[in-house]
Amino acid sequence: MPPVHADPEQLWEALLNLIRNAVDAMPGGGNLTVATKKNGTKALVSISDNGHGMTEEQARNLFIPFFTTKADGTGLGLAHTQQIITEHGGRIDWTTKRGKGSTFTIQLPLEVGA
Ligand SMILES: Nc1ncnc2c1ncn2[C@@H]1O[C@H](COP(=O)(O)OP(=O)(O)OP(=O)(O)O)[C@@H](O)[C@H]1O
Ligand SMILES: [Mg+2]
Repeated sequence: MPPVHADPEQLWEALLNLIRNAVDAMPGGGNLTVATKKNGTKALVSISDNGHGMTEEQARNLFIPFFTTKADGTGLGLAHTQQIITEHGGRIDWTTKRGKGSTFTIQLPLEVGA
């Protein structure tokens, strides 16, 4: 994977939020997959879990600050992650299926000339 131009601590925080959410979605254990891919001038990083997925209502509210379904959640993880990625000129896409799991994909611009 060619380099991306990013603040390493912020990027790690964004990835860690997605990894923690994936782990939380699999309370009985499961598979966490982290994959990277180059797509033209973009770097793609996807975090997948085969956990419980989400309801339509949850999916609609994911990125809204303080929306949480967890007893000890702040509901700020995804809002903050999205802010970090947007500030880096990227975007987040996701897919989810109830009872099957979810995938969150971060897209970041590759360093110019990479
Ligand atoms: N991988 C996932 N699978 C299922 N639901 C998810 C997943 N990621 C996020 N969610 C849903 O989105 C909600 C918001 O996520 P967010 O990371 O913003 O907050 P949180 O995880 O609840 O709290 P915190 O990040 O502070 O621990 C979660 O409470 C959960 O309902
Ligand atoms: Mg979270």
